[in-house]
Amino acid sequence: MSEMAVPAVFIEPDGAAMRRTMGRFLTGVAVVTAAYEGEQVGMTINSLTSISLEPPILMISLNFNTRTGDAVLGSGKFAISILGAKQEPVARQFAVRGGARFEAGDFDVTAAGLPVIRGALAQAECQVVDQRTVGDHQVFFGQVTASRYRDGEPLAFSSGKFGAFRDFNHDAMPWSF
Ligand SMILES: Cc1cc2nc3c(=O)[nH]c(=O)nc-3n(C[C@H](O)[C@H](O)[C@H](O)COP(=O)(O)O)c2cc1C
Repeated sequence: MSEMAVPAVFIEPDGAAMRRTMGRFLTGVAVVTAAYEGEQVGMTINSLTSISLEPPILMISLNFNTRTGDAVLGSGKFAISILGAKQEPVARQFAVRGGARFEAGDFDVTAAGLPVIRGALAQAECQVVDQRTVGDHQVFFGQVTASRYRDGEPLAFSSGKFGAFRDFNHDAMPWSF
């Protein structure tokens, strides 16, 4: 008998079960930011995915009725900041629905005038090249027009909790880019 506490039957998940299922997929944490009609907006996400290398395209998925999603739709641009392990407070600050965003903290500004999180492991500025509505989310594909990165411990997120990544100190994967 297996000792794992798995349900005896598969179910068609509701939103909460979907969140718990996919919560087992450990991710990094990023903040997506945008500027529209003189207002700066941003929110914490973990739906960031690399889609294409040449040209460089990434994808984000934003719930309907977020201030950030509206600004991305209106401006056709967004930026992402990939957070380091010490930036959990930033992740929490940018995840409060309707909460203050840029009143506290340190930010840089990209050439296109988008705010990004200072000290993030990576920052990228994107031009929306495709967008669709999928279920209850808006999915944006952004071509990266400028980016930079630095070394550091990434912030991780799993089953609703923040943590840190620990590598096994094995050989790096022989991927060539
Ligand atoms: C770790 C983490 C990851 C999140 N990922 C997403 C995401 O990918 N898409 C999304 O729509 N909301 C995501 N959220 C929730 C938003 O950050 C939250 O709803 C935000 O406050 C919305 O901004 P608003 O004030 O404009 O409504 C995430 C929250 C956390 C803590």
